[in-house]
Formats: sequence, C-alpha cells, structure tokens
Amino acid sequence: MAATTPRFSTKDVTVVFFLGGPGSGKGTQSANLVKDYGFVHLSAGDLLRAEQVRQGSEYGEMIKTYIREGKIVPMEVTVALLSNAMAESLATAPPPAGTKARFLIDGFPRKLDQAVFFEKTVCVSELVLFLDCPEDVMEARLLKRGETSGREDDNAESIRKRFRTFVETSMPVVEDFRGKDKVVEVEATKSVDEVYAKVKEGIEKRGLHARS
Ligand code: ADP
Ligand code: C5P
Ligand code: MG
Repeated sequence: MAATTPRFSTKDVTVVFFLGGPGSGKGTQSANLVKDYGFVHLSAGDLLRAEQVRQGSEYGEMIKTYIREGKIVPMEVTVALLSNAMAESLATAPPPAGTKARFLIDGFPRKLDQAVFFEKTVCVSELVLFLDCPEDVMEARLLKRGETSGREDDNAESIRKRFRTFVETSMPVVEDFRGKDKVVEVEATKSVDEVYAKVKEGIEKRGLHARS
C-alpha cells in the first residue's frame, strides 16, 4: 500500500493539540493564546455543533446523539471538519509571509484512533497542551456554564457520561503523547489568570512563543 502523505506539512503549519477534561478551561485559555501568540483556534466541539445544525448535513442527528451521550463522534467526521477548517483558514487568512500558520486544536484528539488518523492524513502535531483538573472542580464549572450556555450536554447526567469518556477514552491519548515527550501539563484549578501564567510558561519553555 502506498504511504499516505499528510495534507499539510510541518514546514508550513504548526499544530498544537489542546486537551483536558470537560470544563477544565480549554476554550477560556485558547482565547488568551490566540491574542498573545497568533494561534488560529479550532475547537472540535464547536465545529461539530456547527455541523449539527448545518442545513443539509447528513450527520446532524448522529452528532446530536453522540454529544448528548458524551460519546466520541466517529473520527472521519471530526477530522474532515478540522482539515477543511485548516484549509479555509490558510486560504482566507494566511500567516505573515515567511512564517508558519499556527493552529491550536481544542478538544482533539479525544481518542487514539483520531490522533493516529489525523497525524497520518492531516498534519503531525508539535505539542500537546494538557489541562489537569479534578472532576469536582470541572463539574461545578460546567453546571454553572450550563445556566447560560444552551448546551445540551451541560447537565448533571451528560456531564457524568463525559467524565467517563474522558477517563476511559481520552486520557490514553494524553498518556500516548506523554510517552513521546510531547505533553506540557498545567494544573487548572486556580484562577484563569494563574492558569494562563503556567500555560505561557509551558509554551515558552518549548520555544513555541516565537513564530517560525
Ligand atoms: P472547556 O473548553 O475545557 O470545556 P471552558 O473554557 O468552557 O472549558 O470553561 C468551562 C467553564 O469554566 C466556563 O464557564 C469558564 O468561564 C469557566 N472557567 C474556565 N477556566 C476557569 C478558571 N480557571 N477558574 C474558574 N472558572 C473557569
Ligand atoms: O470539547 P467539547 O466539550 O465542546 O466537546 C463536546 C462534545 O463533542 C464531546 O463530549 C463529544 O461528544 C464531541 N466531540 C467528539 N470528538 C472530539 C471533540 C468533541 O466527539 N474530538
Ligand atoms: Mg470547550
């Protein structure tokens, strides 16, 4: 079988995966990273929610069920959404001449098969940023977020299922990348600003603060 070449070369694109349990603060910290380091933020969950309500999507009902049950949507769907979003960003808002585009991919890969498939067909990642947060803290944040988020999965029952999926299915991805020395881990229980200070430290230690 012929070897597959990823759609994007690491010569042109830097990919940072952003992982952490539901409610650990990935979306919140992403906004800081976009502002300070020029990352393009792509949230797998946001892309799936947009696809869920897109007129004419054949996946709408399927995505809705998976999200409510806290299960991982089949990877082909999510990887295609991410790959297309990357291509669109490169076409419409290319990075400054002579520099690489920088993508912060939030909430992905949530399962080992997604990690393998993405790196084989889309782009090899540079780093994994991982927010470590205990479940009681995440639960309190999510229940509070659920008061205004309108998300169908920010309720006690879905949250329980999402935690289970995270422990059983997503943590093995973090461990796999840890074994490759690709993980920067940050404790995420303190205030947004304190967590961000640690995130910055981790990013800078790995030399990712400067565009290349
Ligand atoms: P994730 O994207 O990892 O699920 P979010 O960034 O949406 O998490 O954060 C979940 C909720 O917790 C949001 O309502 C957010 O405002 C809040 N939050 C995020 N980080 C912190 C923090 N360090 N301390 C307190 N609340 C936080
Ligand atoms: O990251 P976020 O909390 O927005 O994800 C919401 C839901 O979207 C997840 O609980 C899961 O059902 C789905 N999802 C997925 N695969 C991903 C990211 C999110 O199936 N890589
Ligand atoms: Mg989020």
